[in-house]
Amino acid sequence: MNIRRMGPADIISVVAIDTAAGILLPWSPNAYARELLKQTTFCWVAEAEGRLAGSLTLWDVVGEGEIANVAVHPDFWRQGIGRALVQTALDKSAELGFPRVMLEGRASNLPAQALYRSFGFEEDGRRRGYYANGEDAILMSTRKTE
Ligand SMILES: CC(C)(COP(=O)(O)OP(=O)(O)OC[C@H]1O[C@@H](n2cnc3c(N)ncnc32)[C@H](O)[C@@H]1OP(=O)(O)O)[C@@H](O)C(=O)NCCC(=O)NCCS
Repeated sequence: MNIRRMGPADIISVVAIDTAAGILLPWSPNAYARELLKQTTFCWVAEAEGRLAGSLTLWDVVGEGEIANVAVHPDFWRQGIGRALVQTALDKSAELGFPRVMLEGRASNLPAQALYRSFGFEEDGRRRGYYANGEDAILMSTRKTE
């Protein structure tokens, strides 16, 4: 498995992986194209068995990290690719001096929460009924906010 920065040629595959992974509102190709142009966005892809297997987007939000999205194709689940992508984002965050990294996800997404907890992310709070289906958003970060 290899992780590298995402380029415009990867966009179509990344959107297909987001969809296959069950992301309910995946970013459009145009949205990814805009993200790739921003100085404050870092997108990586993971390659395995000669094809793209997953991606992660990290934002620099006024000097703190935010994992905007991460998805691994179901063909590659439970092979350590999600973990490698999150580690890449945390390494970059350390390099950039971010004091913490945050994210938000569906309260029902226990696999993702288990992944993040294994890196020391803790729940900071929830947004009740945040998603269109009425589900709560769970807010997590690498350091608890006071
Ligand atoms: C969450 C996701 C990115 C994990 O990717 P992955 O490559 O399968 O994860 P890894 O193999 O690196 O797993 C790392 C750890 O995460 C946890 N984990 C991953 N999948 C899990 C599952 N289905 N159930 C419970 N824990 C799980 C485990 O702690 C695992 O460690 P282990 O395999 O040693 O037990 C993947 O399931 C996915 O793409 N899901 C759909 C999209 C999504 O939910 N994105 C996150 C939005 S916030």
